[in-house]
Amino acid sequence: MSDKTYNLILRQGQLVTGERVDIAIEEEKIVAIAPEISTSAATEIPLNGKLVSSPFVESHIHLDSALTAGDPRWNQSGTLFEGIEIWRERKLYLSLNDVKKRAIETLKQQAAQGVLFVRTHVDVSESTLTALQALLEVREEVKNWITLQVVAFPQDGIYSKPENEKLLKKALKMGADAVGGIPHYEFTREDGVRSVERIFELAEKYNKLIDIHCDEIDDEQSRFLEVIAAGAIRSGMGARVTASHTTAFGSYNNAYAYKLMGLLERAQINFIANPLINITLQGRTDTYPKRRGITRVKELWQRGLNVSLGHDCIQDPWYSLGTGNMLDVAYMAVHVCQMTGMTEINACYDMITDNGARTLQLENYGIEVGKQANLIVLDAESRYEAIRRRATVLYVISQGKLLVETEAPVTKWNRE
Ligand code: FE2
Repeated sequence: MSDKTYNLILRQGQLVTGERVDIAIEEEKIVAIAPEISTSAATEIPLNGKLVSSPFVESHIHLDSALTAGDPRWNQSGTLFEGIEIWRERKLYLSLNDVKKRAIETLKQQAAQGVLFVRTHVDVSESTLTALQALLEVREEVKNWITLQVVAFPQDGIYSKPENEKLLKKALKMGADAVGGIPHYEFTREDGVRSVERIFELAEKYNKLIDIHCDEIDDEQSRFLEVIAAGAIRSGMGARVTASHTTAFGSYNNAYAYKLMGLLERAQINFIANPLINITLQGRTDTYPKRRGITRVKELWQRGLNVSLGHDCIQDPWYSLGTGNMLDVAYMAVHVCQMTGMTEINACYDMITDNGARTLQLENYGIEVGKQANLIVLDAESRYEAIRRRATVLYVISQGKLLVETEAPVTKWNRE
């Protein structure tokens, strides 16, 4: 045995591949992974076969509106559009501290449940850009324990007011990581197309990623996904582009969907579905049969396209529930997308880990020697059990250090 000791060793954890390994961590990095590491460590954690996984990636959330549900009023219709109206009232009295406090509280809730990488949209159609300023400050303040990406999101549309385009541009100059948009909410189809074209121009000019709220409506005539795919092909931006929601894709006729799939395969963009909120927001104008309001997750995945899952909202005007638990998101995806086969359930787990990392273009992600040590341990032995029981995340290791420990609940029987 050598004299060398490591900072931390996780003993006998089970990787998602089923292999049992020891994982050694030194400073910020993973330095060894082997069936058995003979070297000792200052801290050793026995895992006895518990699942060791890359951290969860929250690829789509709105931290600026999180934790405001009911303020100033509840969303009675439950629609996206009433949510936008309520947020328009709430954002009149945003302050830097208000946004930062809620955002950090939400990030802590997320990290405690194994999320270490987050992409947040921030509304940049309010004139002071207070929410954006707050989230840029938060990104800096939390960077030692969680990685935050900020999307400049013109919630009210780029062309609904003359100043909105300028605000979007200013947001990119201030340091947002990605350009957002909402073409289905622009006044006309033509404005929607123009907004997507403008987003590509801005992304290329300022060297930003793209993540567009796209076709988040049950209208089968909402067809901006094809515009985004064409933009990704023509610009060569491909995997730097993401289409979020695309719920109308669930309502397209199969002939059009078939043609669109071919285009999407060429474009190689990313997709983000948000099953928790879209199962509640969509279908509100249907009587019966009532649509599920989700994009074609299973079919996109079957074609080998990159799909990840987001929570989207936590206690805000669009969704009053949620705790930030990504296993709830995957669990809902299994149901709503009917992905109940074992490989399909495993795929839903990958959609909240590896696929999210691909969407966010994270370079330093994954359990491999030489990578930054970001990993989680779950109170489960497999991805299937993690989703089925929405298992407790027992340990969260961020940048080589133990960030959070949580004990699994214990049930005591008091009768034979
Ligand atoms: Fe969203």
